[in-house]
Amino acid sequence: MTTPVLSNMPFHLAIVMDGNGRWAGKRFLPRIAGHKKGVTVLRRCVKACVARRIGVLTVFAFSSENWNRPDDEVSGLMDLLARAVTSEVAELKQNGVRLYFVGDRLRLSAAMQTAFSNAEASTASNTGLVLNICFNYGGRWDIAQAAQKVAESGQPITELALDRALALAHVPDPDLVIRTGGELRISNFLLWQAAYAELHFTDKLWPEFDDAALDEAIAVFRSRERRFGQTSAQLASIIEKHRPAESVQPTEGV
Ligand code: IPE
Ligand code: IPE
Ligand code: MG
Repeated sequence: MTTPVLSNMPFHLAIVMDGNGRWAGKRFLPRIAGHKKGVTVLRRCVKACVARRIGVLTVFAFSSENWNRPDDEVSGLMDLLARAVTSEVAELKQNGVRLYFVGDRLRLSAAMQTAFSNAEASTASNTGLVLNICFNYGGRWDIAQAAQKVAESGQPITELALDRALALAHVPDPDLVIRTGGELRISNFLLWQAAYAELHFTDKLWPEFDDAALDEAIAVFRSRERRFGQTSAQLASIIEKHRPAESVQPTEGV
């Protein structure tokens, strides 16, 4: 039997922040109160990722399917994000965070599109955590728009060409995808990029997702063996080959 080869810290962490509505419902609050709490928890989570030296955090904030919600919830979410974009940028800058908005912007208001571009521009020189906010994002939209771009360029549609045209081409694929809120589904998130991600589902609702829950998810990730199609024995022999030769300790008293 080979010892499993355990993973290091995840470089790219992606989160489906689900459960805001149920969190509010349990407290007899309107759903939007859950989304507000969700923003506070995201702020805290970004700091926790910075402290843990995670390279990239990608969060699912509004899906292409979320337009199907009641009008007041959709407009509440738009207002909340528009306000958060302006109020959070200073702190993100201070923490060295580089912000990207990922998704189809064409359906968003002109004011929102400008707010996104301004926030991206003002954090563009930051070199710390990359924070991708997926807003009006869907994995199927992403694959279709990438295929369209490649087709228009006249190149053959290869995996590499598609990869370079996808909305997350600026970061490597996620190592770990967490979904809060207890549902065991992907809901059109990172369909292409999560091909080899480790998945972690927790019953905790997003507004309850604290540092301890993050550390638990990371610990679960680190206990997994990522084989990428190979066998455990192959992984162990690769590690053995790259192990540095044992250093010779000087003998005491010589
Ligand atoms: C996730 O929480 C946030 C968004 C989809 C915008 P939900 O609003 O889906 O919360 P639940 O799943 O209804 O509890
Ligand atoms: C997924 O949550 C989308 C976001 C967290 C933004 P949903 O609550 O929309 O997912 P479904 O509808 O339960 O699959
Ligand atoms: Mg939900």
